[in-house]
Amino acid sequence: MYAVSTPTDATRRPAPPAETATANRTWWDGEATSYYVEHGSFLGDTDFVWGPERLREEDARLLGDPSGQVVLEIGAGSGQCSRWLAAHRATVVATDLSAGMVATGVAVNAAVESEARVPFAQCDGRSLPFADASFDTVFTAYGVVPFVADSDVVMAEAARVLRPGGRFVFSTTHPIRWAFPDDPGAGGLTARHSYFDRTPYVEQDASGHATYVEHHRTLGDRVREIAAAGLVLVDLVEPEWPEGHDEPWGGWSPLRGRVIPGTAIFVCRKPA
Ligand SMILES: C[S@@+](CC[C@H](N)C(=O)[O-])C[C@H]1O[C@@H](n2cnc3c(N)ncnc32)[C@H](O)[C@@H]1O
Repeated sequence: MYAVSTPTDATRRPAPPAETATANRTWWDGEATSYYVEHGSFLGDTDFVWGPERLREEDARLLGDPSGQVVLEIGAGSGQCSRWLAAHRATVVATDLSAGMVATGVAVNAAVESEARVPFAQCDGRSLPFADASFDTVFTAYGVVPFVADSDVVMAEAARVLRPGGRFVFSTTHPIRWAFPDDPGAGGLTARHSYFDRTPYVEQDASGHATYVEHHRTLGDRVREIAAAGLVLVDLVEPEWPEGHDEPWGGWSPLRGRVIPGTAIFVCRKPA
C-alpha cells in the first residue's frame, strides 16, 4: 500500500466509488509534498519510470515513438513522465485528481527547461473533460487504477478519448501482491491474504470515515474490464527487479522483487 500516514484503523471493508474518491483526493492532497520529497529523486523531474523496478520508458518503448503523438496522462502526480514525453516532442496534457499533486507539478514545471513543461488539468480519471478520439495515447504510471472502486469506468473513459488505433498503457501494483503483507523484508514473502478477496483495503478515522482506499482486481478481472471497454490487450509486462538496483520503495524491495512480481504493465490498443 502507498499509505504512509498513521491511520486510526486499517481494515478491509466495502468502499463505494464516492467514498473512495473523497478519501483518496484528500489523502493525495495531504501527501503531495511529502510524496515529491520522498520519491522525487527516484522519479526525476523529466524522466519516465514505470514503477519501483525502475523500468524506463526510454528502454521499454511501450508507448512507441513519442515524437508527434498527442498524449494524455491520467493520475500524473507531479507530471515527470509527461515532461519526458514533451522533451521527446510529444504534445502532452498531464492530469490528476488531486489539486495538491497538480500544484506540485506546476511548481516543478518552473524548474525545468521550457520544452519539457506541460499543461496540467485537475480531473478524475473516471470522468475526463476531453472529446472523443482526441488522443493517440493515454497512460498512467501507478495512477488512478488501484485508487478507484470502479476501474472499469477508467478503462471505458480511456477508450473513449483514444482515437481508433491508439493505445492505453497503465502500470499498477501486480495483483499477486494483494496476497502478501506489504513488508519489504522476509515477512513479505509469505501469502497471508486471499488473492481472490476483492474487499478493499481501507484506512479510516475514529468516526469510521475512510481516509485512504486501495482496490484489488485479479489479473482475470483486469483482462475482462479491458475487453469490456472495447480495448485489446496486446502485452502484459512484469518487470523483473534488476541486478544492481538496491533502492526499496515501501513494500517493493530487491528481496521480494527477485521472487514475486511487484508491477504489472497492461498495454492495450483501441481497434483501428
Ligand atoms: C502513486 S501516485 C502516482 C503518481 C505518478 N503517476 C508517479 O508516477 O509519480 C498515484 C496518483 O494517482 C492519483 N489519483 C488517485 N485517484 C485518482 C483518480 N480517480 N483520478 C485521477 N488521479 C487519481 C493521485 O492523486 C496520485 O497523484
